[in-house]
Amino acid sequence: MTDTTKSATLSIGGQSVELPVLSPSVGPDVLDIRKLYAQAGVFTYDPGYTSTASCDSTITYIDGDEGVLLHRGYPIDQLASKSHYLEVCYLLLYGELPTAAQLEDFETRITRHTMIHEQMHNFFRGFRRDAHPMATMVGVVGAMSAFYHDSLDISDPWQREVASIRLIAKMPTIAAMAYKYSVGQPFVYPRNDLDYAANFLHMCFSVPAEKYEVNPILSRAMDRIFTLHADHEQNASTSTVRLASSSGANPFACIAAGIACLWGPAHGGANQACLEMLKEIGSVDRIPEFIARAKDKNDPFRLMGFGHRVYKNFDPRATVMKQSADEVLDLLGIEDNPLLQVAKELERIALQDDYFADKKLFPNVDFYSGIILEAMGFPTSMFTPIFALSRTVGWVSQWKEMISDPQMKIGRPRQLYLGATQRDYVDVENR
Ligand code: SDX
Repeated sequence: MTDTTKSATLSIGGQSVELPVLSPSVGPDVLDIRKLYAQAGVFTYDPGYTSTASCDSTITYIDGDEGVLLHRGYPIDQLASKSHYLEVCYLLLYGELPTAAQLEDFETRITRHTMIHEQMHNFFRGFRRDAHPMATMVGVVGAMSAFYHDSLDISDPWQREVASIRLIAKMPTIAAMAYKYSVGQPFVYPRNDLDYAANFLHMCFSVPAEKYEVNPILSRAMDRIFTLHADHEQNASTSTVRLASSSGANPFACIAAGIACLWGPAHGGANQACLEMLKEIGSVDRIPEFIARAKDKNDPFRLMGFGHRVYKNFDPRATVMKQSADEVLDLLGIEDNPLLQVAKELERIALQDDYFADKKLFPNVDFYSGIILEAMGFPTSMFTPIFALSRTVGWVSQWKEMISDPQMKIGRPRQLYLGATQRDYVDVENR
């Protein structure tokens, strides 16, 4: 922790309490309230954690007002254009960009862990074919704790490392198997001669009946989508992984909890909900109707893929995703994709509307991603599993950071209690 010479004075209940003010390397100062209850007998109240830092971290920084996203200090637009997903994974996990030798070793370790235990195939067959792939992923990833007993002891740095590699390596295989199971096609084993993104496309789209060549345009776009979703500070699913891990639960169970949280339409499920919304809008002439609904307080409808707790400017990932959507559709020869036209016009109209401008609602990472994924051949049900696959490295990196911190404590929030005060039991005949 950096300099703690600054402090703030809180006057409450006729007493003054000095609270340290902690200074970050960049971003707002932090009021350290760890001793507040002991010194003043009061809690703070912040449902949704709108003004609360749950931890310190060195992994990712977001400047929401400027629309900046840094991974270990490197801007996301530079990583998306100059790096590739496994190199970003190394950066998030170990803190620095790898040398060529380090990268080759890391990629080899990941490649050699991409298969799952053959017996785990049986788990998939216990699900209905029409189960949502996120339900399958939650189940199968949680079940990894029933197989990989040699990487469950979180107090052992070596086992933490093996669990990290296994999770990053096997998530594409599990996601692809969930997809294959949902469409009634045979599972496709990973191939060690393909890179991470190409391997995922191969496991999803190849069939035994014919040769499948990975399209390099799609593979590059897939890899970029993985990078854009890799990590994002203490978002809801990362905070879920941290809270679950703070009890000492094994990493596979904690990542399964993160997948469950990501599934929600307010979070990672928004990419599926956004494409479904664009399809419901259907054409640009229906956009005003949906803009009006999004502004109507009595209508629960929200523009999916718009707004963000932290970004009060463009989500830099959305900017890159929008460029990628144009490139991929153009390179695939998909002229005038109607959904892309609706998305671009919806963005244009919304950003001119005072409601969205006043509330600083801009497109987020989920607004354009679905258009690319659909053009690549994925059903909407696979959009959030791809987000989960991409975010696994972020969850694992944040988990490793927390677990290896000797100051780590179990997370246990307090509450503002508004229920009944103590009263005596009343026998049923007297009620
Ligand atoms: C992700 O946290 C992360 O980093 C998440 C993520 C990551 O990488 O991990 O970036 C990934 O989850 C992106 C967000 C995906 N979700 C959506 O696109 C769903 C639609 N957007 C929202 O529901 C909403 O914007 C949230 C959930 C993203 C943020 O909600 P907040 O910060 O709690 O804001 P809020 O709900 O309090 O909204 C503030 C105001 C409200 O109006 P008032 O009550 O103040 O009058 O803005 C309005 C909201 O009604 N509003 C919207 C809106 N989002 C917010 N109105 C219309 N459409 C929207 N999309």
